[in-house]
Amino acid sequence: MNISNLKSKFPVFKKNPNLVFLDTAASALKVDEMIDATNNCYTNEYANIHRGNYELSSKLTKKFEDARKKVANYLNVSHNNIIFVKSATEGINLIASCMSKEYLKDGDEIILSFLEHHANLIPWHIIEKKIKITPLGLTENSDINYNELNNKINTKTKLITLTHMSNVTGSITNFDKIKEITKNNNIPLLLDGCQFAPHKKVDLKELDPDFYVFSAHKMYGPSGLGILYMHDKWIDSFSPYQGGGQMIQDVDISKSTYATGFEKFEAGTPPIAPVIGFSSCLNFMNEVDPNQIYEYEMSLHDYAYEKLSKINKLKIYGSNKNKGAIISFNIDGVHNSDMGAMLDKKNIAIRTGHHCCQPLMKHLNITGTSRVSFGIYNTKDDIDYLVNSIDEILKILS
Ligand code: ALA
Repeated sequence: MNISNLKSKFPVFKKNPNLVFLDTAASALKVDEMIDATNNCYTNEYANIHRGNYELSSKLTKKFEDARKKVANYLNVSHNNIIFVKSATEGINLIASCMSKEYLKDGDEIILSFLEHHANLIPWHIIEKKIKITPLGLTENSDINYNELNNKINTKTKLITLTHMSNVTGSITNFDKIKEITKNNNIPLLLDGCQFAPHKKVDLKELDPDFYVFSAHKMYGPSGLGILYMHDKWIDSFSPYQGGGQMIQDVDISKSTYATGFEKFEAGTPPIAPVIGFSSCLNFMNEVDPNQIYEYEMSLHDYAYEKLSKINKLKIYGSNKNKGAIISFNIDGVHNSDMGAMLDKKNIAIRTGHHCCQPLMKHLNITGTSRVSFGIYNTKDDIDYLVNSIDEILKILS
């Protein structure tokens, strides 16, 4: 597949051919295979799954469970460890809630970083147990300061939970350094893979975390579906997160027993059509090859980084070498939301503001940034148009 010519697979460009979409980190545009598979599911295949002993239901049940295997293959783990949730956010809330019920004690500590998205912070604020949250600081490049880890770990540390790639700076976390410490100290590791998984190969056998979450909608797939990988030891030991149909073994009026494995965590009718649609996204991702996606997007990133750096009074946040295709910046004297609104007038979509990372903004002593983030439909022409548009806006404002 010719990666530099994939725009035709994204139907939004048929109606809006001049759209320059640079907000993939918020949510990716949708690939035709996913739209077709979802449409076909609702039009021709739909019935509830796991519940019907008629052909429509049993066929779709098989397709749904095959999709779970495909997700597992993609991550290089067993399908028994894949739980479908409504979002990556729900995945982290599930872990936090289960940990609070039967693993954490008041006074325990967890370690995270200043790069975390609110979705990997607030779940730890709202659990019942009163825990201490210790953040790892950042280096000058806005990378995690791994040297702080050894000093911040103590006998009360019960979890290290980190973004795999920052949604603001694009910094990719170096788990070689972290894994040694988590293994030696027997501390579980949770990774938020929302920004990483859609852009580079994820091998969970190699990374070997206790938990990994990401969302389908950032991988050219449907909204309403998150993927949660959970290691056997937690799947077996956690109690259910929610109760309802499908997650049970036996139910009486005043008590119930529960299914084992991933089923224990999938109460109610699951996101059937999103899972079927997402399965097609994985075909697409495999065809293009995630590592080739990374190379391509980084070639765009490097081109944009160089051009943006040359703009007078423009400051880029995060210059870590190991990063993904996200660039956050501010220009002296121009508010990021004004920049976003003026670029929108030129049919360029970027995200502005705090990016659900207020602690990072406070750490950097800013209130927000303009952020451009790339997907496989972007081209160098998009970047030329962006940079020319910023130049024009700066001329108008000067
Ligand atoms: N987490 C998404 C972003 O960074 C929504 O924009």
